Amino acid sequence: MTDIKIEGAEIIIVGGSSGMGLALARRLLAEGARVTIAGRSAERLEAARRELGDPADLKTAVLDLTREKEIAAFFHDCGPIDHIVSTAADIEGAYQLLPDLQLSAAQRVVESKFYGPLLLAKYGAPCLPPSGSITYTSGVAAYRPAARGSVVAAVNAALEGLVRALAVELAPLRVNAVSPGWVDTPIWSFVAGDAKQATLEAMAKRLPAGRVGRPEDIADAIRFLIGNGFTTGTILHVEGGHRLV
Ligand SMILES: NC(=O)c1ccc[n+]([C@@H]2O[C@H](COP(=O)([O-])OP(=O)(O)OC[C@H]3O[C@@H](n4cnc5c(N)ncnc54)[C@H](OP(=O)(O)O)[C@@H]3O)[C@@H](O)[C@H]2O)c1
Repeated sequence: MTDIKIEGAEIIIVGGSSGMGLALARRLLAEGARVTIAGRSAERLEAARRELGDPADLKTAVLDLTREKEIAAFFHDCGPIDHIVSTAADIEGAYQLLPDLQLSAAQRVVESKFYGPLLLAKYGAPCLPPSGSITYTSGVAAYRPAARGSVVAAVNAALEGLVRALAVELAPLRVNAVSPGWVDTPIWSFVAGDAKQATLEAMAKRLPAGRVGRPEDIADAIRFLIGNGFTTGTILHVEGGHRLV
């Protein structure tokens, strides 16, 4: 038994309209949490609502993590919250070798995966009870960078530094991150395009776990970080052994 209740808890998932965030929403709703999924696209949020079966305990919110005013207004208006999660990332155009890398694409990664999480903490932390938590999503690229992935590698590493600092500054709130390995989600269309399946299959053969990740693997890890009251400042690696190979 953990000391943090999930049933009845109000949980915000920024990035909850797709991939890992959507899997987390499904998992938490099944445990009786009241979940708000947030993202930029109202259409994606509505599609996610349908995919989740339109449950009564689900709300949606259009929210762009790169816009400080939107984040401030969201937390001003949203009522009590127990936990905040971000799985959001805008990596479109960012997987490039340096000669082809546009600064604007790199800036969107920084805004969605570093400044956005920073602002979520700035405006969201005051809404949380002492038992509350913030959970971010970094990634294995910080440890096993590949060519074309320099920006994502660097931003994941920066986010992990932020987690440790916020765990100290915002205590007793807990602040953690899950660091996923390669997980089969829609984000791969931006990383590998048509080569997505072949790229993921090749990685599955290399990994000690013998497969790439499923969104549910990461949802399970975030569920642990939300629910374990003695875990803070931690980066939880869920990557099938990727850092070993
Ligand atoms: N999949 C992998 O193999 C992998 C590996 C390592 C790390 N990660 C990390 O894991 C996290 C989740 O990835 P995923 O694979 O689940 O991605 P995904 O399926 O592409 O989902 C990304 C979500 O973020 C939202 N989003 C993007 N930019 C946003 C912004 N500026 N403001 C608010 N919401 C925004 C998207 O909705 P809208 O587009 O509608 O805003 C979507 O709901 C990301 O941080 C990613 O970098 C993924």
